[in-house]
Amino acid sequence: MTNPIQGTTFCIHTFGCQMNKHDSERVSGMLEGLGSLLVDTIEEADIVVFMTCCVREAADTRLYGQVASLKNVPLRAGSPLPKRIVAVGGCIGQRDGEKLTEQLPHLDVVFGTHNLGSLPGLLAQAVADGAHHVEVLESSSDFPTELPTAREHSWAAWLPITVGCDNFCSYCIVPYVRGREKSRPLEDITEEARRYVEAGVKEITLLGQNVNSYGRDLYGEPRFDAVLDALDATGIERLRFATSHPKDLTDGVIERFGTLRSLMPALHLPVQSGSDRILAAMNRRYTREHYLGLIEKLRKVVPDIALSTDIIVGFPGETEEDFMDTYRLVEAVGYSQVFTFIYSKRAGTPAAELHDDTPREVIQERFDRLVDLVQRKAWEANQGELGATVPVLIEGTSKRDGLVLAGKSPKNQTVHGPVPAGRTAEELVGTIVPMRIDEARTWYLSGTVVDG
Ligand code: 5AD
Ligand code: SF4
Repeated sequence: MTNPIQGTTFCIHTFGCQMNKHDSERVSGMLEGLGSLLVDTIEEADIVVFMTCCVREAADTRLYGQVASLKNVPLRAGSPLPKRIVAVGGCIGQRDGEKLTEQLPHLDVVFGTHNLGSLPGLLAQAVADGAHHVEVLESSSDFPTELPTAREHSWAAWLPITVGCDNFCSYCIVPYVRGREKSRPLEDITEEARRYVEAGVKEITLLGQNVNSYGRDLYGEPRFDAVLDALDATGIERLRFATSHPKDLTDGVIERFGTLRSLMPALHLPVQSGSDRILAAMNRRYTREHYLGLIEKLRKVVPDIALSTDIIVGFPGETEEDFMDTYRLVEAVGYSQVFTFIYSKRAGTPAAELHDDTPREVIQERFDRLVDLVQRKAWEANQGELGATVPVLIEGTSKRDGLVLAGKSPKNQTVHGPVPAGRTAEELVGTIVPMRIDEARTWYLSGTVVDG
């Protein structure tokens, strides 16, 4: 059979988390392998793939709007296809399946979170017969490792070590659309990491909805600290991971921040709320005290570790007192970054059954108050870097100025600085250069490359 994808162009719109971004790299890898060319815009693309997120309502509504508006974008001249092929995958694909094609009649392909690998076949069928093709599986037994990956950057790689989630936080849709937690065999992980190191990758980010519970479903129950040890031994320069559930963060993992050369001094540890009453209603299974105890242990190992977190404001029944518990926790911890979300009701989750009569404006006012605090604390955290020289992994140039380098410090802060005389941005991208920090803003640092 001829390959109908050959000679086409495609683009991918990705919503949501790093896992989705990584899945998009896999879709790119598969389509490029079949001879399709990645382009930037929908206008140039014969095939448009949406990798979707349904964690909050906003992304959900946007997806439906964006797919609907595609109807009006003409197919490029010279396309080998008779019409543009539109595919929706990821979490909304998994949740809504067939329903999507009923609401969006010009949609051609729907796939879910367990069958990325089916996409090329579904696209080929849609090209051949012009009909809808929907394939959503309840679960998959294998860890999806064998798909090719077209990485966005040559110097950085995401490496999934678990997929799915068994935690069932009461507000969260993820366990229903990503399925039960599955761990990837350790040899498989290290093998992929070794290949990346050989290919010159400088930074690996281990991915999973909850990396801390790695291995529970595997023979011999290798734990997450063993994964960190194995990764460090590959010689990778920088190692990070996300996301970590506080109830499963072990002393072993905390110690690794002090002992492993490659593990960067930054940790994303979502707290969600500082109120024990709300934490219990969220089914988070830790207390404020336990969480603060973890922070204390981490700071004993790495005193200036950069901490970031996620917080939900407006969970059903949250009072001013509960909110202030969160506010005071943020003040006490002094995060470098906080991702703040207003609670969004997700049908099918236990929290969707809870009644709440807190007015929308009250929730918004609390949210704004928290954001102000978050900015003040982020600014304070960055002031400590003034005058320091830090190794910066150069990622490119600033969006606003092609002559300004942009990169990341070990603590994951964005660092800007002028391209040094006699060098070009292109030759520095993907390398680690020492920079002296001259200015510290809320969301970035500015510095000067110094001779290493
Ligand atoms: N409403 C608001 N925020 C949510 N998150 C997850 N589910 C919801 C929801 N229903 C947030 C959590 C999680 C982050 C990825 O998204 O803070 O850590
Ligand atoms: Fe959702 Fe909780 Fe699982 Fe995170 S740990 S994905 S918030 S259910």
